[in-house]
Amino acid sequence: MKPNLKVDESLIGQVVRTKKPLMILDVRKEKGYRHLDLAKKVGLCSLLSVPMMVKERIIGVINTYTAAQHRFTSEEIQLLSSLADQSAIAIENARLYEQMIGLEERIRETEKLGVLGEMAIEVAHEIRNPLTIVKMLFHSLSIPDKKDATIIENELDRMNRIVTQFLNYARGEKPEQQKMDINQVLENTLLLVEHRLSQQRMKLKKTLLPLPSISCYPEKTAQLFLNLFLNAIDAMEDGGELEVSSEAIGGFIQVKIKDSGSGIPESIKERIFQPFVTTKAKGLGLGLAIVHRVVEEHRGKIEVDSTPDIGATFTVSLPIEVVQ
Ligand SMILES: Nc1ncnc2c1ncn2[C@@H]1O[C@H](COP(=O)(O)OP(=O)(O)OP(=O)(O)O)[C@@H](O)[C@H]1O
Ligand SMILES: [Mg+2]
Repeated sequence: MKPNLKVDESLIGQVVRTKKPLMILDVRKEKGYRHLDLAKKVGLCSLLSVPMMVKERIIGVINTYTAAQHRFTSEEIQLLSSLADQSAIAIENARLYEQMIGLEERIRETEKLGVLGEMAIEVAHEIRNPLTIVKMLFHSLSIPDKKDATIIENELDRMNRIVTQFLNYARGEKPEQQKMDINQVLENTLLLVEHRLSQQRMKLKKTLLPLPSISCYPEKTAQLFLNLFLNAIDAMEDGGELEVSSEAIGGFIQVKIKDSGSGIPESIKERIFQPFVTTKAKGLGLGLAIVHRVVEEHRGKIEVDSTPDIGATFTVSLPIEVVQ
């Protein structure tokens, strides 16, 4: 078999087209024969070319040459034809086997996701009980710092809502959208990372321009921005500046989250929104996959711009009017 032959022009093309064996008494005298030099050099004379067929489909051609002139008998043609058919079946089987292995891997991954989904439901269910207890006990504590106490309480509520929403989703219920001011979501979420920002001596620059309220899933948008803030902070281990800006532009609410950190590692740049892609020792690689999903659920867009050692900017655009 010779690869990359133009089927139309070559002699072998004739075999492919007619699906019939071809016999040439002396290839050196044949007009359409392409490899005259080679034939002369290695001493090829008569040719028998038979198609390799799998259910009426040609997958190749087997060529047999003789050094001296030879008229192939019908037995020889039959023998080579059945060898070609057997080989064709073997090749096709190998190809199917390869396909099957790929398919099996995909099935295993889907099964794994299915099992993970079931485990997640159990985990969510089991988290709800201790959460209720923590909330009850929290009320009987007296925490001197009122601001911290409010944050803790709000976060306990948020955890409870996330778990409840998840379980509702597992039951097949659709979460409800609410009209929200995204600036408010940003402010509330920034409160959660305030501690880490000051601990790691990071500056925060906020430029939040007035925005129209939009319909969104409040918990999910909070989750979206929190993940982007946490990633930005993680990328600025030696300090830096986190810039958060928002504006309404061209029918969208545009939020930019810019850090002066390490930038996104080249090796994962193309895959950052895929689950389980991480460069952090304790990272799960789920943050940006969640971010991406939430943006899609809001029919929005997300763009990334990153320069090594200068930093990364994530731009999230959420439509002001959602066309259903
Ligand atoms: N602002 C950023 N600057 C530099 N690299 C980033 C930034 N955001 C994300 N990355 C890179 O993308 C990877 C994936 O981020 P992602 O949030 O999905 O997972 P993670 O932060 O590693 O783990 P998890 O969020 O699940 O705790 C990170 O490990 C990091 O290498
Ligand atoms: Mg993350």
